[in-house]
Formats: sequence, C-alpha cells, structure tokens
Amino acid sequence: MNALTTQDPVNIVQITDTHLYGGNNGTLLKMNTRESYDHVIKLIQTREKAIDCILATGDIAQDASKEAYQEFLESISCFDTTTRWIPGNHDNATTMAEVASGTSACEKIIQINNWMIILLDSSILGQVHGTLASSELEFLKQSLASAEENAAVEHCLVCLHHNPVPGNAGWMKDIGLNNGAAFFKVLKKSSKAGTVLYGHIHQQLDFQHQGIRCLCSPSSCIQFKPNVTNFALDKLNPGYRWLKLYTDGRVETEVVRVSGEIFEADFSSPGY
Ligand SMILES: [Fe+2]
Repeated sequence: MNALTTQDPVNIVQITDTHLYGGNNGTLLKMNTRESYDHVIKLIQTREKAIDCILATGDIAQDASKEAYQEFLESISCFDTTTRWIPGNHDNATTMAEVASGTSACEKIIQINNWMIILLDSSILGQVHGTLASSELEFLKQSLASAEENAAVEHCLVCLHHNPVPGNAGWMKDIGLNNGAAFFKVLKKSSKAGTVLYGHIHQQLDFQHQGIRCLCSPSSCIQFKPNVTNFALDKLNPGYRWLKLYTDGRVETEVVRVSGEIFEADFSSPGY
C-alpha cells in the first residue's frame, strides 16, 4: 500500500462524472463536457492550494474512448499531485487500466497520514446500475480488516461510483448500487470506516445512513434535479467537492460550483 505523510488536514479534491469525449467536441444533453470540465479545473486551480490527492469517482468518459481517458490524465497532471480514478457506468475499466499503465491512477488503496482511502469498482460493463462483485466486497473486507489491525490507520474513506443508498428521484429507482445492504454490512463491522464518497447521481448530498456519512457530489457537467418523479436536469452549475481529512477523524467538506457562467443544456430532455 502506498503511504504518504503530509499536512493536517489532508487536502482532497473530488471530481466526478466528467463524461468526457475524445476530441473535445462531445456534448451531453447539449452541454460540451470538455468546456464545463475546463471551467471546473480552472476553479480548482484558483481555489485549492496544496492538494494531496485527486479522486475521480467515475463516468470519466462518456464514450469510453482511449483518447478521453488520455485527455483526462493529461489535463489533471496540471495539479502535479496523486490522482486515483474508478470506473462508472459509462466507463470501460479495461481501457482505463490500459491508459493508466505506468501511473498509479488505478491503485485501489492509499494511506495518507492516518487515513486509508479505499477505491472500489462498482461498474458492470454496459449497465447503468452498479454492483460490488464478491471479489470487490472481499477486497473491501480485507482492506478494512488490515486497517483495524494497523495502529497507523485510524480512519477510512471509501469511494465508489454508484450511489449505495437509493437516489431521491423516482427515475433513479433502479440505477444505484444493487447490493448496498451488503456494502453497509461490511462498513459497519469496521470501527474506522465512517465516510463514503460517490458520484453517479450528479447532485450534492451529505447525510447519514446506518451511522455512515454519505457524500455525493455534482458532476463537472450536467446536474440531476432531486425529488422529482421523472428525469429532469437541474439548473445548478457544474462543480467539485473538496474534503479536509483531519488526524482526529473529522471530515470538513464543501461543494464549490462554477459561478458567473451560463451553461447551455437540453433542460427539457426526458432522459440521458
Ligand atoms: Fe454520470
């Protein structure tokens, strides 16, 4: 396992659901995802100093192309910091691994100070919903067990793409993690796993579920409206989340959105 010693608090930036296309001209519901992503990157450059790790929590590419993944890694290198990515439903995990070859982007576990960050693959190729395969659940179990025995690890942050708790809109009923109960059962056996971080439903959430803090974050492109029955886009701007992980276990976090820009999208679309 990679172990880094850095400032307290550890400074994390989460970027999620970038939905990039190779070639920079792709649009998702009429929004150019590269342009909105570039706005988010500029915002991070302006606001965040001394980032210890960037977590990209899936749907990196909309077209699952090699080019889109290469462009993501190239653009994120401007931060000159540790980057980890996990696949979402639009991604191809094999292509991501190929593109990440020679980098640490696909590594699934990292220790920073007394925090262990665990990254899980919840994607099923070609499916919108997610699952944690038995091998992935076993990896989580073993990682948390090793944290339990390691005095140098006091807190764990677990990341995945899919929402492990059902989404707050009617149309989201079947698109989340289909074995969330098994996931939480594993987390609850650990005395150190207190926070889960994800994307997928393109909105800002911060709530407790079975004693675990759940954080969901806006996409760097389109936003999904909460508490509706049918699919609807929200007019909130693209953004990212920062997290400060303190040695004493506190997690301070906030979502920051691009301001002063109007992003065009197909707000009447019945789906995506
Ligand atoms: Fe997404």
